[in-house]
Amino acid sequence: MENSYVLYHDQIIKSGSIPVDPEDRGYLFGDGIYEVVFVYDKKPFAFNEHFERFEQSANKLELAMPYDISTFKHLTEELITKNNIVNGIVYIQMTRGVAPRNHLYERNMQSVVTGFAKSVSLDSIEKSQSNGIQTYLTEDIRWLRCDIKSLNLLGNVMAKRKAADSDCQEAIQHRDGTVTEGSSSNIFIVKDGKLKTHPASNLILNGITRQVVLKIAESLQIPVVEESFTVEELIHAEEVFITSTTMEVTPVVQLKGEKEQTYKIGPVTAELQKQFKTQIQLNTSAMKS
Ligand code: PDD
Repeated sequence: MENSYVLYHDQIIKSGSIPVDPEDRGYLFGDGIYEVVFVYDKKPFAFNEHFERFEQSANKLELAMPYDISTFKHLTEELITKNNIVNGIVYIQMTRGVAPRNHLYERNMQSVVTGFAKSVSLDSIEKSQSNGIQTYLTEDIRWLRCDIKSLNLLGNVMAKRKAADSDCQEAIQHRDGTVTEGSSSNIFIVKDGKLKTHPASNLILNGITRQVVLKIAESLQIPVVEESFTVEELIHAEEVFITSTTMEVTPVVQLKGEKEQTYKIGPVTAELQKQFKTQIQLNTSAMKS
């Protein structure tokens, strides 16, 4: 990230100049939270929603917010501008802060906020969206508070590694035969024209993209049920797709790992993909005016 700018506390500074304290609880315990926001044509998408979830994650962990959401948003915008991001991502992280190592945390510590922005080529996302991706079915070995967007992602990264080792771009995780979510995405299936996705419980992250897709489906009068579904239902689904900030709506064309299946990219996925792009365009033009 040479010559780029990063966020440190409430300052945008040159990268490489951030002091890293080995006793930051983010390093010691993964005691912190983060958000990833996509930037399209210089404009952050679902900006409010991401920072609302950020605040919710902070509250669930009793992390002290060092300043209000509007300051977070303002600093994030500055980060985008300073780094000349046209299309890309912004990553914002907040750890509980620095203290002598002790499992017991004190409330109201001085949180440490950091962030960076990176350009992303939309071509690779487009390619996955047109061709679909391969996925790897594996057991969900994570903790029981997946609703918090915490820095603790070891279960997720292990699942992603397993998937990549089988030439898959994403893992699909299940708990005792119930499909939860991807390693960094939410999972939807279509059966008999009906959309199904795991409810927003403690077992999944309630994705911002997931929420946008649910609203789109409702407006298109596509029947939706937020109900958990089994690996058997996944195998017999007509369409499968994932959603995330970095992947938007991406079709799944293959399942590997514990079970094997192939899927076609279906009309429901294609329509939701299209409508999601319309939402992006609406967001960009609304923020420009
Ligand atoms: N991950 N589930 C998990 C476990 C995730 O890590 C993510 C996103 C999602 C989708 O959430 P959203 O639609 O709000 O991006 C679901 C981000 C992109 C990441 O960690 O890079």
